[in-house]
Amino acid sequence: MSPTLCADVVCRRVGLNRIDDLLALEDACFPTDRAKRRNLRRLLLSPSAYCVAAYLRGDVVGSMVVLFRSNSGVARVYSLAVSHAARGLGIGRRMMAGAEREARRRGCDRMRLEVRMDNIPAIRLYESLGFVDTQVLPGYYEDESHAFVMRKELG
Ligand SMILES: CC(C)(COP(=O)(O)OP(=O)(O)OC[C@H]1O[C@@H](n2cnc3c(N)ncnc32)[C@H](O)[C@@H]1OP(=O)(O)O)[C@@H](O)C(=O)NCCC(=O)NCCS
Repeated sequence: MSPTLCADVVCRRVGLNRIDDLLALEDACFPTDRAKRRNLRRLLLSPSAYCVAAYLRGDVVGSMVVLFRSNSGVARVYSLAVSHAARGLGIGRRMMAGAEREARRRGCDRMRLEVRMDNIPAIRLYESLGFVDTQVLPGYYEDESHAFVMRKELG
């Protein structure tokens, strides 16, 4: 995909009607710990989940889920994925900027996420956005690999 095509990518909230596309993207992007249909359906219907898709000419090429809780100032980035063909074009960064805007809009003062310790592209992305790793969760994933917890204070 060329950089010009990236300008055609639109990020917006996504609903149940795209659940099959979102599951297909999960399958392609995550080796383990993929969202189950029932769980994703619940998230897509929940006001406390901010679910976004990146679309290119109607096709879903990215997705993100951010979770909010009442009485909590922490926004949790639960999931982020960009299709292989659309990586490296700024779509992940754009969706994360949207997550931060939404977190501020909802009055949060912090963001947090978990990431595999060997997921260099994702860690670089989060670091470039000001996230720092604060904790290790041993055996956090289904395949027992470890996670970093990364956090960002929203000034
Ligand atoms: C992580 C992921 C979402 C990044 O999405 P993306 O749209 O390709 O990322 P962007 O193009 O917005 O890149 C933003 C920054 O991330 C970092 N980055 C992205 N891909 C990278 C790579 N392959 N190697 C190193 N750094 C990388 C860079 O800092 C980059 O900034 P730069 O282009 O100015 O150098 C994507 O690789 C992906 O979907 N991976 C599989 C699923 C996954 O791991 N999700 C995260 C779970 S915690």
